[in-house]
Amino acid sequence: GNRTFTMIKPDAVKAGNIGNILQMITDGGFEIKAMKYTQLTEEQAKEFYAVHSERPFYGELVEFMTSGPIVAAILEKDNAVADFRSLIGATNPAEADEGTIRKKYASSVGENAVHGSDSDENAKIEGDFHFSADEVVA
Ligand code: GTP
Ligand code: MG
Repeated sequence: GNRTFTMIKPDAVKAGNIGNILQMITDGGFEIKAMKYTQLTEEQAKEFYAVHSERPFYGELVEFMTSGPIVAAILEKDNAVADFRSLIGATNPAEADEGTIRKKYASSVGENAVHGSDSDENAKIEGDFHFSADEVVA
C-alpha cells in the first residue's frame, strides 16, 4: 500500500479521544508504520503550516497546534491519502459526513481533531518532517 501522515490534534488529545480515533483509523484498514506522542514547538508548527502563512488564521492555527500534545503517525493503506481524507471528513466538522472522525470528534473549523495529508508528495514531506528512517517500521 502507500502512505499518508496524520496528527491527532491538541483538542482531541485534551478531550481524551486518542484511543477512539486510533480505533477508527485501524478499523478503517490503515496500518500504523510510525507513531509518536509529542508537543510541537512554535518553530515546528510554523514550518509545518508554512503553506498557510498568508492566511488570516495562520497565527491562530500555530497557537492551537502548539497548545498541547499531539499524536503524529505514518499510516499505510492502498489509496492512503484519499481514503484517509474520506475517513476524517471535511475541514469544517459542520460540513463533515456522518461517521467521519471530524463529525464525531471535532468542534470547529480551527479545532478539527485530526490532520490528513492532501497529496502523496506532502505525505512524504510531512512524514519525513516528524520521523527519522529508524522510527518507521519495515
Ligand atoms: P489539515 O488536514 O489539518 O491540513 O486540514 P485540511 O486539509 O482539511 O484543511 P487546510 O489544509 O485547508 O487547513 C489546515 C488547517 O488550518 C485546518 O485543519 C484547520 O485546523 C485550520 N483552518 C483552516 N481554515 C480555518 C479557518 O477558517 N479558521 C481557523 N481558525 N483555522 C482554520
Ligand atoms: Mg491540509
